[in-house]
Amino acid sequence: MIENVPVIDIAELDSPASLEAIDRACRDWGFFQVTGHGIEPALLRNVFDVSREFFAQPADEKRRIQRDADNPWGYYDRELTKNRQDWKEIYDFGPADGDKLRPRWPGGHLRLRFEPALRAYYASCRALALRLLSAMASNLGVSPDLLVRGFDEAHTSFLRLNYYPQYPFDAAGNRPFGVGEHTDAGALTLLLQDDQPGLEVCRDGSWFPIEPRADALVVNIGDMIQVWSNDRYRAALHRVVTNPSKDRYSVPFFLNPSYETTYEPLSTTVTQACPPRYRPIRWREFRTLRAAGDYADVGEEIQITHYRT
Ligand code: OGA
Ligand code: NI
Repeated sequence: MIENVPVIDIAELDSPASLEAIDRACRDWGFFQVTGHGIEPALLRNVFDVSREFFAQPADEKRRIQRDADNPWGYYDRELTKNRQDWKEIYDFGPADGDKLRPRWPGGHLRLRFEPALRAYYASCRALALRLLSAMASNLGVSPDLLVRGFDEAHTSFLRLNYYPQYPFDAAGNRPFGVGEHTDAGALTLLLQDDQPGLEVCRDGSWFPIEPRADALVVNIGDMIQVWSNDRYRAALHRVVTNPSKDRYSVPFFLNPSYETTYEPLSTTVTQACPPRYRPIRWREFRTLRAAGDYADVGEEIQITHYRT
């Protein structure tokens, strides 16, 4: 029997059945899909529409709003995952911080629709991600509002537009990955994918495709929840394989806390038999070290296991 990543209807998110299904999925896969999420289909369509238009622009136009080391928001086409180049282009939108961080918007006719589409979708994702995080807090035995506290005004969550151009088979049969295998560093990720396959999750050493579904969003837990849960939940490795004949678009929302947040295994997950497996981690430090590896080959990329006790 081929097992699939579970699809969970969260129309009644606080019901015991939903909570139990989420707990199982977090333990077994670190991934699940949600239907009944309540985000308007028109918002999803608008995000894909402006994303396609954005990436269809001439390269010069896109590079005018390229990210740099001071301000990571904007366009980029040479991201490295674990020091290997990914076959994709990206655009990141995150909040301004009153200092160096500020969104970079495309110019011309696109701007008028691009900014509102991204802002509206970002707001919906943030609300949904926090509801899911509250549900996971309940499952981990703490008050539902305990974990969401680090995600107030100063949170560093961001929305990414991913564009994976098709990659025709070459004679040697070599194919780059759209994104090489990795875990997401933050709390959790909500991913909107189009109708093209490519996303795969690793379970017990095997890779499983995550079926594109028009009615669902993909949820995966990140390193931060792995730490809070003291390894009850694992942030699963995932990757994107390239498609020989079709382009693929996806839109992850990464739920990240404020830079000042420190996290460690929750007291409810620690017992004498199961001591804390991580020391306290500051998001600013982990994020900065991990992000350095996105720009340049800095040797071995920092991983959460580095913080194991
Ligand atoms: C990511 C990621 C998956 C996808 O951007 O971190 O895992 O399907 N994306 O684009
Ligand atoms: Ni990812």
